Amino acid sequence: MKTHSVVLIPGDGIGPEVSDAVLAILEAAGAPVRFETFHAGLGALERGATDVLPEDTVQAIQSHHVALKGPCSTPVGRGFSSVNVALRRTLNLYVALRPVRSLPGVKTRFENVDLIIVRENTEGLYSGIENLITDGVVVSMKVATRSACHRIAHWTFRYATHRRRKKISVFHKANIMKMSDGLLLDESRKVHARDYPNIEYQEVIIDAATMRMVQDPSQFDIILCENLYGDIVSDLCAGLIGGLGVAPGANIGDTDAVFEAVHGSAPDIAGKDLANPLSLLMSSVMMLEHLAEQRADPRCKEAATSVTAAYTKALADEQKTKDLGGSLGTKQFTQAVIDRLGA
Ligand code: NAI
Repeated sequence: MKTHSVVLIPGDGIGPEVSDAVLAILEAAGAPVRFETFHAGLGALERGATDVLPEDTVQAIQSHHVALKGPCSTPVGRGFSSVNVALRRTLNLYVALRPVRSLPGVKTRFENVDLIIVRENTEGLYSGIENLITDGVVVSMKVATRSACHRIAHWTFRYATHRRRKKISVFHKANIMKMSDGLLLDESRKVHARDYPNIEYQEVIIDAATMRMVQDPSQFDIILCENLYGDIVSDLCAGLIGGLGVAPGANIGDTDAVFEAVHGSAPDIAGKDLANPLSLLMSSVMMLEHLAEQRADPRCKEAATSVTAAYTKALADEQKTKDLGGSLGTKQFTQAVIDRLGA
């Protein structure tokens, strides 16, 4: 059986360090993937590209359909729009999927956190439509379309069914933004009533929801949000399980998927061997599970299971990077995971 060709975007700041770590672990695990490197963000500009999201990078993802992406920096104040927003919009990656699970050996306020955040990835305030109305007055447009609200609601209920999850909570502010947030509620209610009545469904106002999450996250299961709330709630959830170093994610569309850590390029620790590669490693496990399902390749599932077991064992053995209270550098932690593969 052949190996799967996947695009690798190493990214900026700590991106190349955590990408190297992940590549070493996947290779040691015998994952049947071959990476082809393309660039985005500052890395692309430094290599002579005129845009932070070069056309050849987009085309490579469209041709391979799967990418693993390190965090990218967008230069501020130089007229470039965000790499991440552009990538999600260009490839129509309308789902941001972010699983949030407690890890052994990582002490946090709560045990047994097991949440899934589904964030609508293409609309809301991230549509980037801002108008200067008059000097000192700016209007920023929050876009919601019925088709995108239906699409994300339907995807979430279908995902919940496949994964045997019990409950979907939509976080919203439809008491104020009656039309835009109202549209997501409207479509979610319809999809629930018509196609998935067996899944428990609830609507929670976002401000009360965030308070409830930090009091007791176990009252939620799958959380569906529009773009901005999803962005904020994802980081809040990362805080529940140990921080940005352990929060993986995927951006998924109908044909392409880009797997990436929730964290950014962390310029404050870049090049110092301090970055925790777990976020990107866990994202690569999601990528392997995606390949296993989409291409019916059990070898990808085996590699995903083996890598998960190895990093879980490393953490349980108190092998941790500094952000988790340990003392290991990026390279030492990588080796600790490799040493536990197949153990
Ligand atoms: P950030 O996530 O890069 O860093 C926030 C804090 O978390 C920093 O103290 C950093 O050292 C720490 N941190 C992040 N990841 C870590 C890891 N793996 N291990 C240990 N510590 C870690 O967020 P910030 O500073 O707001 O953004 C920096 C740059 O990243 C900006 O240019 C931003 O645009 C970009 N960014 C890119 C994203 C992406 O490509 N998906 C997502 C978020 C931000």
